[in-house]
Amino acid sequence: MAETPRNGRRGPARRNEQVPDFDVDPVAATTRTSVPEAIRHGSFSPSDPRFDHLRGTAGEEQIDMDKEERKFIRRRSWKLLVHLSRGVRLKLLITALFVMVAQAAQAATPLIIAWAIDWGLPRMIDGQTSGMILPGVSYVAAAVIAGVLTWAYTRMTAEVSQQMLFTLRGEVFRKTQHLSLDFHEDYTSGKVISRQTSDLESLRELLDQGISSLVSGLMFMSFTAISIVILDWRSGLLLVAAAVPIVFLGRWYQRRSEVAYRQTRISSARMIVHFVETMTGIRAVQAFRRETSRSRQYDRLARNYRNDMVRSLGLFGILQPALLALGNLTVAAVLVWGGFRVLQGDLEVGVLVALLLATKRVFQPLDMIAMFYNALQSATAALEKVSGLLEEKPTITEDPEPEHLDESRGEVEFSQAEFRYSAEGPVVLHEMDLHIPAGQTVAVVGRTGAGKSTLVKLLARFYDVTAGSLTLDGVDVRKLAVADHHRHVAMVTQEAFLFSGTITENIALGRPEAPQEEVVAAARAVGAHAFIMDLPEGYETDVNKRGGRLSAGQRQLISFARAFLADPAVLILDEATSSLDLPSEQLVQQGLQRLLGHRTALIIAHRLSTVAIADRVLVVDEGRVVEDGSPAELIADGGYYAKLHAAWEATMGSPN
Ligand SMILES: Nc1ncnc2c1ncn2[C@@H]1O[C@H](COP(=O)(O)OP(=O)(O)OP(=O)(O)O)[C@@H](O)[C@H]1O
Ligand SMILES: [Mg+2]
Repeated sequence: MAETPRNGRRGPARRNEQVPDFDVDPVAATTRTSVPEAIRHGSFSPSDPRFDHLRGTAGEEQIDMDKEERKFIRRRSWKLLVHLSRGVRLKLLITALFVMVAQAAQAATPLIIAWAIDWGLPRMIDGQTSGMILPGVSYVAAAVIAGVLTWAYTRMTAEVSQQMLFTLRGEVFRKTQHLSLDFHEDYTSGKVISRQTSDLESLRELLDQGISSLVSGLMFMSFTAISIVILDWRSGLLLVAAAVPIVFLGRWYQRRSEVAYRQTRISSARMIVHFVETMTGIRAVQAFRRETSRSRQYDRLARNYRNDMVRSLGLFGILQPALLALGNLTVAAVLVWGGFRVLQGDLEVGVLVALLLATKRVFQPLDMIAMFYNALQSATAALEKVSGLLEEKPTITEDPEPEHLDESRGEVEFSQAEFRYSAEGPVVLHEMDLHIPAGQTVAVVGRTGAGKSTLVKLLARFYDVTAGSLTLDGVDVRKLAVADHHRHVAMVTQEAFLFSGTITENIALGRPEAPQEEVVAAARAVGAHAFIMDLPEGYETDVNKRGGRLSAGQRQLISFARAFLADPAVLILDEATSSLDLPSEQLVQQGLQRLLGHRTALIIAHRLSTVAIADRVLVVDEGRVVEDGSPAELIADGGYYAKLHAAWEATMGSPN
């Protein structure tokens, strides 16, 4: 609860939280970065400008990479893995050790049998029963050791892999929640979801089965290869010859599958993005009867994903039988060559049989290793994306030496403030000079796209000015401690987002530690108490999905109560454009008036009744304040506001 934004759907995230960052780049971490491009300073990766196009999430859609680029990206993924293994490294080491000992114990059992036959049996025949006891005990000991250790390492592998995923999951969540609005506007929630779900799932597959199957496969192969060399070093040469094409095959597979899996991560993300957008926009989808076309688009994306996945697995389908064929060819070579050597009396028949068995066995784990490799490729592609996301940095950060403001009067001043959304984009606010004295209620009006929302978003610090400054009580908001800024400036967005939970919980978001009486008092103050008491369970009513049970006006009142409880010095309101029905509009207007009290308020007004309660009206046009005065003055001036006022009056009647 404490982590949820105070107000509105995208209420200011608590940016002062200590988010564990991998940032080791002190310059990027401490420098105030207000230009979006400044995010692209990854710390997982060396600061070579040649790779700037791959930093953060920037290179996400790039599929083909040259050698250097691959190295750069791989290094970043690897660093993330190393970072995740922090805290479980000892366990990881012990796990590997257990796997080795378990494999050795397993490999020892045939040797014990040989020992029993060659050494124990003759003694038994001589009447010494002890001849069988020693090998028997050894055999049981080896079996028990192998069994116990297999149990131990299976469990430990699960612990290690789940711990790493737990760390990563938390970090992806904190990071995405922490990133500034400009990032989320570009990246979309669907992509964030796919990072958090399908990419992490790929990694899970690798970690869960990977470590133990790789280590045990390699150990088994090594032990068997050694025994072949001991039996007959010449046949060992055949193994070396077989290794050459295997290495080539492995490299071929690595190249191809890397690209293929990268493609599947992209197509999977696209599919999830479409799904999430459709479901979050389900009202619009149904209202405009877009179901068929959305389904068709989804099918297309899902088909792409299916095809990409089939292609990736198809590569594996080549690798696996090719390895099998190579293994069998080697067995055949050992057989033919060995046969000739037996004929010539160079080789014992028994040794040839043992060699054939060993050669057949030596290739068995290749299957497992190939499977591991397949999971590795899939996980690598996922790691590339996740590590890129984690490399992103919020554009809005706290000053390393912030100024504190315990109490605020609520005096706001823009001085020569300029803003653009991106370095290449147009200037949206031009050299704005605006002084708002404490306690003033300011209505902001203007045509659509004029820059009204942008103006208030700067005050809420969703963005920072790109030139000039913005101060609260004379303190530059960029210098102000984030916690203090959040306490003093609150924004009520038009959407009035409700989190799942009770009415009380939703109001208490304004000040989580507030006792129930204060929650009720806040609801009473804005005039929400009456309708809340009419709900089935009063304040304990679950608002359910997106406040589905409440009307738009009621939701607005809840968000007013939330803001009232937060009791900020400066209140920002981006008013809903949709006209509410008359009774609820009156209710909302009354609530608004009580909420405003003596605070400083900036209201983006779309209704005459709202403007009527303002002390001052600002008309914004093309990023400039073009009219500024009391409502009466502006009407007398006969400018934009006068016309707007006349139009409102004509359609809605007089304000009171
Ligand atoms: N996230 C963004 N990225 C880039 N440009 C943006 C972004 N948001 C707004 N703009 C642009 O900035 C300008 C001002 O937008 P703003 O949202 O402030 O308008 P507004 O006055 O609030 O309009 P409305 O009354 O329709 O809400 C517009 O030209 C818009 O296209
Ligand atoms: Mg707007």
